[in-house]
Amino acid sequence: MNRSRFIFNLIALSLIVLLISCRTQDQKNSQIRLSEVWKFKTGDDPSYLTIGLDDSDWKQINVGQNWDNQGYKELDNFAWYRVRFSLPSSVKDISFLKDSLKLYLGKIDDCDEVYLNGKILGYNGITLTSGVSVPDSFNIEPSPWYKERVYVISADDERLLWDKENLIAVRVWDRGGLGGMYSGIPAIGMVDVGDYLESGHRNSTFAFDNGVAYKSFNVKNISNHVKLSGVFIVTAKNDFTAKEFFRHIIKIDLPAGAETKIFVEIPEQNESTTLNYIYKQKGSASETVYTDILPYILTPAVSENPRINGPEIIGARPGKPFLHKIPVTGKEPLKISIANLPEGLTFDSNRGIISGRVSNRGEYDVKITVENSVGKASGILKIIIGDQIALTPPMGWNSWNCWGLSVDQEKVIASAKVFVEKGLANHGWNYINIDDGWEIKGDSPEPKRDDDGNIRTNEKFPDMKSLGDSIHFLGLKFGIYTSPGPLTCGGYTASYQYEIQDARSFAFWGVDYLKYDWCSYGQIAKDHSLPELKKPYFVMRDALGEVDRDIVYSLCQYGMGNVYEWGAEVGGNLWRTTGDITDTWGSLKSIGFNQVKNAPYGGPGHWNDPDMLVVGWVGWGPNLHPTRLTPNEQYTHISLWSLLSAPLLIGCDLERLDDFTLNLLTNDEVIAVNQDILGKQATPVFIDGDVQVWVKELYDGTKAVGVFNLGESILDYKLLFNKAGLPDKVKVRDLWRQKELGSFEKSIIIKLPVHGVSLLKVSE
Ligand code: GAL
Repeated sequence: MNRSRFIFNLIALSLIVLLISCRTQDQKNSQIRLSEVWKFKTGDDPSYLTIGLDDSDWKQINVGQNWDNQGYKELDNFAWYRVRFSLPSSVKDISFLKDSLKLYLGKIDDCDEVYLNGKILGYNGITLTSGVSVPDSFNIEPSPWYKERVYVISADDERLLWDKENLIAVRVWDRGGLGGMYSGIPAIGMVDVGDYLESGHRNSTFAFDNGVAYKSFNVKNISNHVKLSGVFIVTAKNDFTAKEFFRHIIKIDLPAGAETKIFVEIPEQNESTTLNYIYKQKGSASETVYTDILPYILTPAVSENPRINGPEIIGARPGKPFLHKIPVTGKEPLKISIANLPEGLTFDSNRGIISGRVSNRGEYDVKITVENSVGKASGILKIIIGDQIALTPPMGWNSWNCWGLSVDQEKVIASAKVFVEKGLANHGWNYINIDDGWEIKGDSPEPKRDDDGNIRTNEKFPDMKSLGDSIHFLGLKFGIYTSPGPLTCGGYTASYQYEIQDARSFAFWGVDYLKYDWCSYGQIAKDHSLPELKKPYFVMRDALGEVDRDIVYSLCQYGMGNVYEWGAEVGGNLWRTTGDITDTWGSLKSIGFNQVKNAPYGGPGHWNDPDMLVVGWVGWGPNLHPTRLTPNEQYTHISLWSLLSAPLLIGCDLERLDDFTLNLLTNDEVIAVNQDILGKQATPVFIDGDVQVWVKELYDGTKAVGVFNLGESILDYKLLFNKAGLPDKVKVRDLWRQKELGSFEKSIIIKLPVHGVSLLKVSE
């Protein structure tokens, strides 16, 4: 291939990561799977890239998971990986296009340089042409840790050794946190014709209408010389019966660079269903298969009957501002009336909001009645005026998992409006929290504080007080973020040595929730001893204690020093128990299913926080994508977080809330498990191969039982009651479907999709 054409292809192919979402079949022999176990050495030396180096004494490492999990926990530095493989020319001969190769290395945390047979091949997923030297590859923002590394090279590139042994050496630099090569199975193979078909199915979500699930997306020919001519086949199969029940064939004729829209319209399903999009080029034996999962809605439509939703208990301190929008559902108009309000509170019946201040300590049983044309419901809301707040896990929205540092005032207000307009507030969602990115940047020439030392906001947040007021006007609560260090994790101004002053600013703005993130306090702390870990959190606790507001105090220091053992002692209402979550099954699984040791420490007023939700459109800003969790994984996520009594903070763009996500977040029976007033965190009662059974005791004496399938195959699982610590004879309700399953003796058979769950309420 001529050089310029090759460079064009190379750029085009570097932009995409087809290997994540598609696989090419019947081309097996033109793909070489590289070993998962590579040679590994910590440190940095130019000789590590050379072919001749004797690496026989190097350690072995699995490139499927980060190095921290393999004995290199404190390694925030350089290390090298090496692997050898042979490259028979038959790989090229049997391929359809014969012109380029792609090397897939999975993800690398944080930065990499890749050497092929002693010569630089590329860095951070960018391929370099032969002879070009590598620029400063380790100093780029943002860190490319989440990026799949695909390197594409001409088949006649001088760096390849056909019919000989080849060596790949990867120089990795980890800036902090987890490090190393950590996902996927590395492979090298010929670029196939299907690789030029870029499918946008991952960037669009299904909508539902009248029993039909539909979406559209573009497919594009990203080559500049190959014409794509063939068929694009959409198939759907039920995962339990393995039966294909839908097949639709679309003709594709795409000149180089052209694109077309694909419409997918499938009858709505009520259980796990896999879609395949298959591209077949005329004349080629291979087919490229993209997998998509059809979302399925489990929560029944909200009933027309009036219903009062949680929380059933609220704690506030004497004399502090009180604000609560009563979550009710049912056919509009709904009339809410209230009896037994404690002195100091008033009820705005038009907006359904209780507000005021109560001076006298005590427990007040407030009677709520809601009526409409269909009926009437009533219940008790217990208000406890005392020392404790956050008596049930906080529920709300936080800007980080969607907007990252690109958050601004409009996005925050828009989120608050969606809470009300799309009805989330009627199911108990109420905090609207700004994460990092509202302060002045640490390296900005602008003053970070005013002449009196008050923290300034950046141009994206022109008026924090009016933002707080607007959120409160909707009956919602307002959260903010800072760090005990001089800078936040994102490099913005933080609260070190201004704690009291910042707490006062927050109170003036009407803040109800503070996330206090360790970040640059690492430079201030002498060490990681317990007194040093606790110190900054005591300081802010005392500062918050002085202001005229109840501010939920959220500690964020990633679980250091077993924070769950002392988070409550430093005044925390919740504390992060882990590093940051991301929207992958690996992340969800390793975080969620490891919340075991901390269980005894969670409870009313002080909760373990396994990080925010990764459903809906996420992306850590500014560019978002639909969560990469499958629908089954998302049911698992919400079920597990509910069982764990975890704070529920939605991390998605609420303006792009799709039907599935809205449905997932508004199941009152599932939310009630999370908000149960006993506040007892679930524990795994037994593990049976891939199945984990987690049980949470509820206030009414019943139990919530999550039966999870962590494996890669569907299961018809027989849950034995005695193994789960349940009585022999029980009544079982399916909480996602809000449906009685009946009475069972000794066992029940449950269908479990891959990475899926059955969430049950079990009573005698
Ligand atoms: C991280 C924290 C994230 C987010 C981010 C902001 O340390 O874990 O949740 O707050 O900082 O920079």
